[in-house]
Amino acid sequence: MAGRIPRHFIDDLIARTDIVDVIDTRVKLRKKGKDYRACCPFHNGNNNSSFSVSSDKQFYHCFNCGASGNVLTFLMEYDGIEFVDAIETLAEQLSIEVPREETGSGNSQQTTYIDRKDLYLLMADITTFYQQQLRTHKNSKKVIEYLKGRGLSGETVKQFKIGYSPDGWDEVRKRFAISTELEKQLIEAGMLIAKESSGSYDRFRDRLMFPIHDKRGRVIGFGGRVLGNEEPKYLNSPETPIFHKGKELYGLYQVKQAHKTIERVLVVEGYMDVVALGQYGIDYAVASLGTATTPDHIHTLFRNTSEIVCCFDGDKAGRTAAWRALENALPYIQDGRTLRFMFLADGEDPDSFVQKEGKENFEHLIGQSMPLSDFLFQQLLAQVDMSSSDSKSKLAQLAIPLISQLNESIFRQMMEERLTKLLGIEHDGLEKLLPKKDSTKKVVKNKTTPMRLAISLLLQHPNIAYGLPDFPEFKELQLPGLTLLNSLLEICRESPNITTGQLLEHWRETPQSKQLNQLAVWENNIKEDKYEDQFLDTLEKFLNLHLNNKIEYLKQKARSGDALTSEETQQLARLLSEQKQN
Ligand code: UTP
Ligand code: MN
Repeated sequence: MAGRIPRHFIDDLIARTDIVDVIDTRVKLRKKGKDYRACCPFHNGNNNSSFSVSSDKQFYHCFNCGASGNVLTFLMEYDGIEFVDAIETLAEQLSIEVPREETGSGNSQQTTYIDRKDLYLLMADITTFYQQQLRTHKNSKKVIEYLKGRGLSGETVKQFKIGYSPDGWDEVRKRFAISTELEKQLIEAGMLIAKESSGSYDRFRDRLMFPIHDKRGRVIGFGGRVLGNEEPKYLNSPETPIFHKGKELYGLYQVKQAHKTIERVLVVEGYMDVVALGQYGIDYAVASLGTATTPDHIHTLFRNTSEIVCCFDGDKAGRTAAWRALENALPYIQDGRTLRFMFLADGEDPDSFVQKEGKENFEHLIGQSMPLSDFLFQQLLAQVDMSSSDSKSKLAQLAIPLISQLNESIFRQMMEERLTKLLGIEHDGLEKLLPKKDSTKKVVKNKTTPMRLAISLLLQHPNIAYGLPDFPEFKELQLPGLTLLNSLLEICRESPNITTGQLLEHWRETPQSKQLNQLAVWENNIKEDKYEDQFLDTLEKFLNLHLNNKIEYLKQKARSGDALTSEETQQLARLLSEQKQN
């Protein structure tokens, strides 16, 4: 069992790694001046040097799509892994063990943190067990009949590692929960359900089991289908430390296995659809896990391909689901990325269609799918009666919030033009109605405030604060951003040679992290030999502000008739003379 990874270890790990080496083994870097450049791996564009890696700062940044972060962020995003795994990847390279903090021992009430590694191992073992049961269980015949009835070949079943969970309340439990610790882990992994009194029982019983893999191919959950007409038809793993429905896509691992570069991904609704399509050679389908298509899904998919086709039922529910996917996808659209929609006839799903009509006909349908722009305007126009007098303002009202979510792109311009045509106005007229998207580049142009300047200078050149004294005055000042500046100062004051990448690590997954990332790449147009002066000047501004506030406060107090204590009178005199000196 393991606890948290100590902060100092993470600091150290980042310090001992060179981000340039790590990125260069994955994306070929070219030296340019002090920094390194490459084609950005996080967006599909043809600008082949928008991605910049700074060795000094131990930080990367794409001027085009705004992706940025330190070496851990890069590994998480590029390898598609989670934080702890990124740490383990780096530690492995340095051949060092990842230490864990003791978890509250002696307190049995405290929930113990279970190592995810253990959960992955358990899930792998159970997958194998279900696969064996498919062949050896006394119900085997019935299960294999079912699979045949659904047209699945043995090869497909093997490829997707489909198995069978035996009927019985403790088939998994009696084999795997051989200690209290293991039982706890199995409950945590969602494979056993804890009884109210004590003990536990198997979650999945007498079902066809579809293992769900993460991007690295580890089994993280299951979908289980009944073999008859019982309810619920599908039972899915609950949310667990390793399984998050809104993030994972069934079949993505298999798609990545089948293609080195994935030209297109088809998003369908069901496990069976993915599997049947795969059998028919449409080996680029994924399914969301009984949830809507989330922004995380779209983000993940566009990291792997530039073309997404969403395939839904032709009924009302299918259209609603498609619309939801469209809304979630808008912020991720950029030139070079396409999203299209296809709708099947009522009563059909990809599984039934491909089995009846075959691969070519299915791909023909994909070829005819509807571009995002068409689907968007089609759905909007269906809500507006264009013959009524206020139709245009209604259309504008519906369209503007959607279009304004798009990044600046040729695609956005086309959408704007299409809308202006429908509205019968000049493009300039629309400009006034349409807020520009707050992209990173926009924020970079943000107004310069002393606080922004101070924070960005400190983030970009943490050494300027090394050895600075503590300013207790700052604790009494109320200024937006000052708490953040104080925390940054506190770290930089004591850490010689700390890099931007290391510094930002302290704010991972905090509400401030996004803003800090932006300030870390903010161009403040200050010359290199002026960083320090400028920074100290800004701090002095804050100190003066504090001084003035204090004086104002004491004067106010005196005026209001509250006599100042002799100490306060002395203080006021001192402050006033200080003010004069400044
Ligand atoms: P469908 O009801 O369309 O089932 O659900 P299907 O995929 O066509 O399955 P078959 O062909 O009848 O075997 C689509 C998806 O919705 C989720 C599952 O992920 C399923 O694949 N679902 C459906 C559930 O999670 N629970 C359910 O009870 C039903
Ligand atoms: Mn189906």
